[in-house]
Amino acid sequence: MRTINSIGILTSGGDSPGMNAAIRAVTRSAIYSGMKVFGIYRGWEGLINGEIKELTTESVSNTIQRGGTILKTARSEAFRTVEGRQKAYDTMCRFGIEALVVIGGNGSLSGAVELAREFDVPVIGLPGTIDNDLYGTDSTIGYDTALNTIVECVDKIRDTATSHDRIFFVEVMGRDAGFLAQNSAIAAGAEAAIIPEDETHIDQLASFIERGIRKSKNSSIVIVSEKDGGAMHYAERVRKEYPQYNVRVSILGHLQRGGKPTAYDRILASRMGVAAIEAFNEGQRNVMIGIKDDKIVYVPIARAVKINRPIEKELISVLSILST
Ligand code: F6P
Repeated sequence: MRTINSIGILTSGGDSPGMNAAIRAVTRSAIYSGMKVFGIYRGWEGLINGEIKELTTESVSNTIQRGGTILKTARSEAFRTVEGRQKAYDTMCRFGIEALVVIGGNGSLSGAVELAREFDVPVIGLPGTIDNDLYGTDSTIGYDTALNTIVECVDKIRDTATSHDRIFFVEVMGRDAGFLAQNSAIAAGAEAAIIPEDETHIDQLASFIERGIRKSKNSSIVIVSEKDGGAMHYAERVRKEYPQYNVRVSILGHLQRGGKPTAYDRILASRMGVAAIEAFNEGQRNVMIGIKDDKIVYVPIARAVKINRPIEKELISVLSILST
């Protein structure tokens, strides 16, 4: 088993709250294990361009509570090419970086799989995304914080919805996944969620309107996933098909990605960061650290990024029962 003496750590793709707690945990536990740690700035782009600084225990002081990422992040087009990855590998050799910890979502971890395959680089992935769309983990770093942020916003929007007898379509992030939409709808007591995973082929809008009418409610909140036209699309439909309703749209946007991580995300990130270094020490390669039933698990990165994580049918039924 090859002993790893120095690692590089980077955050890539969309930032998510808790990334700093993960950077801190990886840095401190790597130093604890006798490794040198290099912080790579701006994700894969920084690895290509050599934007790298050695990190010490003090470099990550006073960061656990901060949102965003102190290492900055980017979505790198260059890293999608073989030439880009060759440059990234050359930088690793120049700095003596033997292995990488990559914190990011689907796209970032897919890049890690390519680099590992082409240059035999040991990589450990940490799931850092608000979307919660990675297979093999119950939660991703940042998801809980984003969910809480959404719920706080929807609670406020409801005040206006109720006062003015309006239907609000609130659009939330999640890319192709509906976890944020479905669970925020349950937590905020919304009347419906429109998510990409609901494959019943029932017209989700029509069924919501019918249920709304049956209850003769004057105001409603519908949480809509950003995919397929998002909230605007549904608001337009209601304006045309049900002109008797007073409709508004609220797109929460990037405020969902910001802010202090919740205690849950800080603990998750800390556990996953320590587990990443333990995984290297145990000889693990090219796995993502996940959490299943509150236990740390290793998931081959290639599986984590390829398999679509399903939404529990039970969540769909909970919302529909509670909103009748
Ligand atoms: O993957 C995280 C995410 O916030 C998605 O929910 C969203 O679709 C996307 O990133 C937005 O990306 P950007 O910040 O590049 O607009």
